[in-house]
Amino acid sequence: MNGKSSLILAAGLLVAVLIGPWWAQARTTVPRPPVPQSQMGMVPGMMGGMMGGGMMGGQPWMRIHMQAVHSMPPEYRGLQNPLKPTEENILAGGKLYQQTCAVCHGPTGRGDGPGGKTLNPPPAPLALTVPMPMTTDGYLFWRIKEGGQPFGTAMPAWGAALSEEQIWQIILYLRAGFPEIPTNPAPSDTTPSKSGENG
Ligand code: HEC
Repeated sequence: MNGKSSLILAAGLLVAVLIGPWWAQARTTVPRPPVPQSQMGMVPGMMGGMMGGGMMGGQPWMRIHMQAVHSMPPEYRGLQNPLKPTEENILAGGKLYQQTCAVCHGPTGRGDGPGGKTLNPPPAPLALTVPMPMTTDGYLFWRIKEGGQPFGTAMPAWGAALSEEQIWQIILYLRAGFPEIPTNPAPSDTTPSKSGENG
C-alpha cells in the first residue's frame, strides 16, 4: 500500500462516517404501521399494566377507579371498618343503599340504575369493583364521603347527608354482596289513618 491509496481509503471512511448516520436515519423515517389497538389506552402503573389491555381497561369507570386508587389521601389509607358485619348493621346499610345509591348503582350493584343511564363516566359496577384487592375499606369510605368532585364525576359526596356510622354500614352491605333487603317488613296495622282530614 502506498501513501496515496491509504489517503483515498481514509477519505472514503470519513465520508462513510459522516454520511452513514444521515443515510440510516433517512431510511428509517419511512412511515410505520399504526400501533395496534391493544397497546393504546394503557394506564401507567402496575394494575394499569395488568388491566389496560383487558376487557375492563377500556371502561370509563375503570379509568377513574384506577386513578382514584392511586391518589387516595393519606388520612384514609389503612382505615378499617369499626363496625362488625352483624345482621343488624348489614340490614341498616342495605336500606340506606337501596334508598340513596341504587338509583345510580343499581339494586345489585351492577351500575345499571335508571339515574345513571346518561352519566359519563357511568356509575361504577360496585359488585365488580368492591371485591377487588385494591378496594380497601379506607378507599370506599373516602369515595363515599367525598364523592367524585376531585375527578369531575357525578358521584355525589355523602359526607354531609350520611353519618360516618351510616357510611360504614353501607360498606358492610357492599361487602356482604348486596343481599336482598325486605323493603316493607310486615306492615301490620300501621296503615296511615285516612280519617285524619277534617271532615
Ligand atoms: C347520581 C348518581 C350516583 C349516586 C346516587 C351514587 N353514586 Fe356512587 N358513583 C357514581 C358515579 C358516576 C361513579 C363513577 C365515577 C367515580 O368513581 O367518581 C360512582 C362511583 C362510586 C364509588 C367508587 C367505585 C370504584 O370502584 O372506584 C363508590 C364506592 C360509590 N360510587 C358508592 C356510592 C354509594 C355508597 C352511594 C350511596 C350512598 C352512591 N355511590 C350513590 C354515581 C352515583
